[in-house]
Amino acid sequence: IQRTFSIIKPDATKRNLTGAIVAKFEEAGLRVIASKRIQMTLAQAQVFYGVHKDRPFFGELCDFMISEPVVVQVLEGENAIAKNREIMGATNPADAAPGTIRAEFALSVGENSVHGSDAPETAAAEIAYFFSGLELVG
Ligand code: GTP
Ligand code: MG
Repeated sequence: IQRTFSIIKPDATKRNLTGAIVAKFEEAGLRVIASKRIQMTLAQAQVFYGVHKDRPFFGELCDFMISEPVVVQVLEGENAIAKNREIMGATNPADAAPGTIRAEFALSVGENSVHGSDAPETAAAEIAYFFSGLELVG
């Protein structure tokens, strides 16, 4: 059993797609063991996406992430990290496989509806950044 960190991004919360996206997680066998709706601050977004700080889209990405509330969640299940990446689909919705969250809901490579951790180390760090251990109810 593995845990991964997910964000339902501003383009999705704004269009009332939170439930539809959670349904995709649950249909795939991932369990939501923590969930909260937050307004991210610019400082939080900059630290969270720090790995991309030298990329040309960094400013746009951080501005987008604070443009509306987001829903941060911890998902648990067999191979949760890879499974979630599979359900999310490719970063650019134009490349995302049919039936994936990004194929169905994303608007563009930037406004792509969801974030999901890409490795066990990043999952652990991202979960700890937004949740205390007491908030994880497996
Ligand atoms: P995350 O789960 O959000 O980390 O997506 P990812 O792992 O599929 O993509 P990556 O880590 O490479 O990029 C992080 C995020 O930056 C993406 O999800 C997009 O929201 C944004 N992003 C990536 N490339 C571009 C781009 O070319 N333009 C813009 N505006 N945003 C981008
Ligand atoms: Mg990434």
